[in-house]
Amino acid sequence: MVILDGADADGLNPRSSPGHGASAALRATFLSVLTGVILALGARRAGRVGRVPPRRVRRKALPFGIAVAGTGSVAPEMVVSNDDLSEVMETTDEWITQRTGIRRRHVMEDEETLASLSAKAATKALEDAKFNVEDVDLVLHATSTPDDLFGTGPQVASMIGATNAVAFDLTAACSGFVFALVTAAQYVRSGAFKNVLVIGADGLSRWVDWSDRGTCVLFGDGAGAMLITAAESENDALLGFELGSDGHGACHLGVNAENESSFQVGASKSAQSAKYGKLTMNGKEVFRFATSRVPQTLSKLLERHQIAPEEVDWLLLHQANRRIMDSAAKRLGMPQEKIICNLDEYGNTSAASIPLALDEAMRDGRVKKGDLLACCGFGAGLTWGGAVPWCRGGADGGDAV
Ligand code: ACO
Repeated sequence: MVILDGADADGLNPRSSPGHGASAALRATFLSVLTGVILALGARRAGRVGRVPPRRVRRKALPFGIAVAGTGSVAPEMVVSNDDLSEVMETTDEWITQRTGIRRRHVMEDEETLASLSAKAATKALEDAKFNVEDVDLVLHATSTPDDLFGTGPQVASMIGATNAVAFDLTAACSGFVFALVTAAQYVRSGAFKNVLVIGADGLSRWVDWSDRGTCVLFGDGAGAMLITAAESENDALLGFELGSDGHGACHLGVNAENESSFQVGASKSAQSAKYGKLTMNGKEVFRFATSRVPQTLSKLLERHQIAPEEVDWLLLHQANRRIMDSAAKRLGMPQEKIICNLDEYGNTSAASIPLALDEAMRDGRVKKGDLLACCGFGAGLTWGGAVPWCRGGADGGDAV
């Protein structure tokens, strides 16, 4: 809805239609002169004599909500099992399964790029929503492992043919998808964009230290996408959210830039040439952080929106460790059967893990239209983000506007 603020053309300009006669012609001339005088005075006041100022168009604040229109996900075809790893490093299927719940992970091969994974997941979400890609306004690409340091979102948008969309990357590690969903919702709620493709994708296999058995066994690659569209505000599918970060904990998990060489750029000045190192993690600290932050964030959210744990249909957490999920469910007073978990198949796929797990659960019929999710991401930064969305459609399970 667009409101025209200022002089309406129909109110100022006379219609000269046959049958109006002489008085109508006279009134037309008078109004036409009056219009000219008003516009000239306005232009002079604005210091733009001789130019007719454009009509001001004011956009009224539009209280939209969001609806989940479709989801899609993909993982590389190459599967690396725990047994595969035990052939090349000192580990066992038993150790990895018992400590984490991970049995396999999907790993990108040489010719694969993060952009190609993201594009496939995005295309599936569009197909699921039966949506025309040219109607996408924004592609929000959550990742910490772009193919290009400057961002991969624009490449993904071009690959899928989202010619009318603006695209950019958002980095919040394993919380990336939740941060991107909440960001996208703000654009849609404000009326700035109507249709947003939110993608969570990561290829951490390219950044782990494959000689460090304590970390490399945990991660896998993948991409998940969700198309959100504008809905009536009273049917907003995003009931609430809670985002947080604490840079003091950055030392516990990171892939840091390292200076490789220095160059003389002046008589007494030198610039550094850098590269990124390999992923390092203090597993125990991250474990402690996750098992306290996740239930804390979700309890706060549920309490704020007066949702009892038994009203939540599914607990959808970042897929890092089965023990973290079980502990969070216990603290929240939710049965284990409500946990959505595909960790055994994919490992920790970082920003992809939540949309990948959700897409699978929707496709196999576990998550039904109108189900309420308690969703929480957590990871490097440190960052954490909780969201309580209805899936799918708007809050009433209905369609987008
Ligand atoms: N196989 C066999 N033994 C191993 C392996 C392995 N792959 N890895 C470590 N070990 C050994 C260790 O060397 C150690 O041996 P030691 O006792 O002789 O020194 C022993 O197993 C215990 O190691 P811990 O590190 O103490 O094991 P822990 O029980 O803490 O489990 C784990 C490690 C699984 C990493 C756990 O700490 C964890 O899940 N942490 C959270 C990780 C996480 O959630 N990350 C999410 C964020 S990811 C992101 O944002 C990108």
